[in-house]
Amino acid sequence: MIMKSSNVVWHQSTVTRQNRQEQNGHLSAILWFTGLSGAGKSTLAHAVEDALCKMNCRTFVIDGDNIRHGLCADLGFSSEDRVENIRRIGEVAKLFTEAGIIVLSAFISPFRADRDRVRELVPEGDFIEIYCQASLEVCEGRDVKGLYKKARSGEIPNFTGISSPYESPEEPEIIVKTGEDSLEACAQQVIEFLQVRGIVQPTSA
Ligand code: ADX
Repeated sequence: MIMKSSNVVWHQSTVTRQNRQEQNGHLSAILWFTGLSGAGKSTLAHAVEDALCKMNCRTFVIDGDNIRHGLCADLGFSSEDRVENIRRIGEVAKLFTEAGIIVLSAFISPFRADRDRVRELVPEGDFIEIYCQASLEVCEGRDVKGLYKKARSGEIPNFTGISSPYESPEEPEIIVKTGEDSLEACAQQVIEFLQVRGIVQPTSA
């Protein structure tokens, strides 16, 4: 259960998000990559980060497999735990935007309501949902971590796409066909979106 803190008062910082964005020369935002395990979320997030880094942008990637070693090490894959996982990540991602950083988050985040809750956490336009669209057949065929095999045999319960649902985004800002298009093409698609939106400078591409 989520408890509301009592007897705590928000301290307004003197250095604002605006100050930090001006220093950085770009706006901050949450690039929220969602999709099945093996769809290529982390790979794409790192490729986009690499491109942004070359454009002198300040960025950070947070991804499921890493965060679950620390901040969310106490959480499993029940629906309840996944909700809490995404709630925490959403709060962390929000802090990054306050810090003036473009944060790239790569979590399955299978539930629409959880992703929408993160969207609501930040001002309109700051949450950019990127649907990494790859069919279950493609993801299972890749099976990079050998997890689909274990899920099929019943060794891993509640596996997304097999024994736990994935709710695809209804109106994502970007759909990248990570099951079909090249990594470079998908990364370029995201960068172009950020330029059109004015989050990063078109000239620095
Ligand atoms: S989420 O559903 O809560 O958003 P998250 O992105 O943090 O998931 O973690 C997904 C990663 O955990 C997968 O890429 C996979 O490597 C691993 N994993 C282990 N068990 C499961 C499971 N039951 N369902 C999905 N992914 C799992």
